[in-house]
Amino acid sequence: MLYSTLIDDLQSAPDSGHRYDAISIALHWATLLLLIAMYWTAHAHEAAADGAVAARMLLLHRSTGLLVWFVTVARLGWKGMFGVAPALPTAMKPAQRFVARSMQTMLYALLLLMPVTGLLQSVLRGKAFPLILGEFPAVVARDKVAVTLFHGIHETSATTLLVLIGLHALAGICHGLLRRDGVLGSMLPVFGSKARREEVA
Ligand code: HEM
Ligand code: HEM
Repeated sequence: MLYSTLIDDLQSAPDSGHRYDAISIALHWATLLLLIAMYWTAHAHEAAADGAVAARMLLLHRSTGLLVWFVTVARLGWKGMFGVAPALPTAMKPAQRFVARSMQTMLYALLLLMPVTGLLQSVLRGKAFPLILGEFPAVVARDKVAVTLFHGIHETSATTLLVLIGLHALAGICHGLLRRDGVLGSMLPVFGSKARREEVA
């Protein structure tokens, strides 16, 4: 039952040109995988009893976090220049469309902001630190107050991002299971289409 409902939504995904393009879809799901790595490495760093393991987790966290920033910039660049982003269904109320779009804007903002606050709190510790591709040099003297400030911002935005992702994913799944309007299918990499969702600009 659940399965056939989902298949119904997927099949009503908009036709080519009314679905997200392949690159946007790939970058969307790659971001999800990178974020799973981010929260996992942050948790593993904190939980590690062994200092070497903690250091390796932080190295992975910092390196992957910087990759998130580059992937997000590439994603926005692609979206602005070549990307296909289907409009939302007409059946959605203006307030719902506003909430959905605002949520996406906040997600993009946090994907850009989090790596910056992470990098700042790392740099302001005043010491060089390793990344997968090499060492990030010490460029400023240690500033304990600023480290605490950016650590706090980083931590609060990480929680906010997690809540927003939860709401966003829940909304996407509701579109797929309850509304069956093709919105979820338009972001999934597979499945053909049997009907276009009605659209608004
Ligand atoms: C989307 C990107 C990122 C996400 C979602 C993220 C998420 C997190 C989370 C959940 C924590 C644990 C917060 C806490 O409870 O203290 C954390 C800590 C931290 N993050 Fe990130 N982060 C990101 C990017 C970065 C980057 C790019 C860097 C550095 C280049 C970085 C450096 C750090 C540092 C130094 C800590 C504190 C570790 C400690 O407790 O010593 N983060 N991050
Ligand atoms: C299970 C997890 C997820 C599901 C089911 C999901 C589902 C969707 C769907 C259906 C859309 C298309 C909405 C539309 O047509 O307007 C979308 C777009 C979007 N998603 Fe997700 N998503 C998930 C995870 C994430 C994550 C982890 C992020 C990043 C933090 C994210 C960020 C975005 C953004 C920014 C858009 C707007 C794309 C654009 O038009 O530029 N999503 N998502």
